[in-house]
Amino acid sequence: MASTTTLGLNDPSLFISKGYIDGKWTDAKSGGTITVTNPATDEVLGAVPEMGVEETQEAISAAAKAFTTWGKTTAKSRHDILMKFYALMKEHEEDLSRIITLENGKTLTEAKAEHTYSASFIEWFAEEAVRTYGEHIPSAFPGVRNVVIKQPVGVVSILTPWNFPSAMITRKLGAALAAGCTTVIKPPPETPFSALALVELAKRAGVPDGVINIVTTQKNVNEVAKEMCENQTVRKISFTGSTPVAKILYKMAASTIKKISIEAGGNSPFIVFDDADIEQAVEGAIVCKFRGSGQTCVCANRIYVQSSVYAEFASRLADKVAAFKIGNGLDEKTTHGPLIHTRAIEKVARHVDDAVEKGAQVLVGGHRVEGTGTFFEPTVLCDVPANALINDEETFGPVAALTKFETEEEVIKLANNSPVGLAGYFYSRDVGRVWRVAEALELGMVGTNTGMISQAVIPFGGVKESGLGREGSHGIEEYMNTKFIAFGGL
Ligand code: SIN
Repeated sequence: MASTTTLGLNDPSLFISKGYIDGKWTDAKSGGTITVTNPATDEVLGAVPEMGVEETQEAISAAAKAFTTWGKTTAKSRHDILMKFYALMKEHEEDLSRIITLENGKTLTEAKAEHTYSASFIEWFAEEAVRTYGEHIPSAFPGVRNVVIKQPVGVVSILTPWNFPSAMITRKLGAALAAGCTTVIKPPPETPFSALALVELAKRAGVPDGVINIVTTQKNVNEVAKEMCENQTVRKISFTGSTPVAKILYKMAASTIKKISIEAGGNSPFIVFDDADIEQAVEGAIVCKFRGSGQTCVCANRIYVQSSVYAEFASRLADKVAAFKIGNGLDEKTTHGPLIHTRAIEKVARHVDDAVEKGAQVLVGGHRVEGTGTFFEPTVLCDVPANALINDEETFGPVAALTKFETEEEVIKLANNSPVGLAGYFYSRDVGRVWRVAEALELGMVGTNTGMISQAVIPFGGVKESGLGREGSHGIEEYMNTKFIAFGGL
């Protein structure tokens, strides 16, 4: 196991190998542990407890107890604590970014960008805490005043993915804490250390015991998730992850009619029209397709290019991708890190092989990199046929799959031909087309002439099978109940 010295942290106490229940760092009752490895080197980074249902129930009880006081604190005091938490995150940027790179594999530059994104959620929700306004509605009856207030929902279960080990925690935790909710978090087994470091900083900022609880689990994940979704005390679930898992959680949460926010899978179209600035479109495709080595739910998955600019776009994109340097994210020369695990590699390889069998051509890459770490070559495929798997399923890997189209009408049909609708992008300089296409795409988020849309200040979320609710700018609402009070007898 790597010692904290070899991890190179300035503050080694941020690297924590325990769960967190009712303000105490806790081991699993079974004594079991989950081994966490660095996907760039295959080295063991450390281990966290393999917790189960019993620990989950304890965490939920602790959160319920803490809610009786945290839910009644003033919005100003929650704002102040969150601002302190934000300041501590900024102070420990170097360590927190390094932990992200070590456990997820993304480059240190990308980890720093994630850290900035992650901290921005805490800052945003600190500012939102003091603005959860109610309203007064003129009454239909004499002598009555109608008032609406917002109240925190109570205990929230939070389930997060490994692709943003830090930002997906703060996007949910920030909103929950600002609203006055208490939480039980299940971080992913691949990347638990970012979550644990954040909790340590939240504790230092003054978040009271029981307000945040962390249950780490891998083998027992089904039972733990069931408890988090079905326990009567929990009043809300917030999940980011795949659509198949979202459907299971949604069904389980129905048993007690909990509020639920789901940010599930995407299959983002990226469209280049013939009136686009091609260089800008290539840059946008690089940012959007290869962020996190293709492992984000808003990454371009299907790239449609109009026929007259197809060859030019394909060749410029291929040249840039061929210049990428994959490797350990801590190495300054590395532009792209590994995939998270072997299963991810297998899925990417299956998508590439299937597309090639069906007639696609490989312009760059196309293969797993043998040896240490879980790397797949950054890949550009052209002439990907409509029936290729890659057009149906999110690849979640570094593969740009290009398909030629002729007309605007045709490409809108192609783009909307998916059960999911998270994000999408298109490039055009024609203002009429920009409005028409943005409105026609069946998506929750559209980037026009940009490949980067993610910020704390936007309503992040999808339509169709990509999810329910919005995070970020409108996110605090999801953690509050609306209560109507009629004041009569006036
Ligand atoms: C995700 O991949 O789940 C989130 C991506 C983002 O926030 O940009």
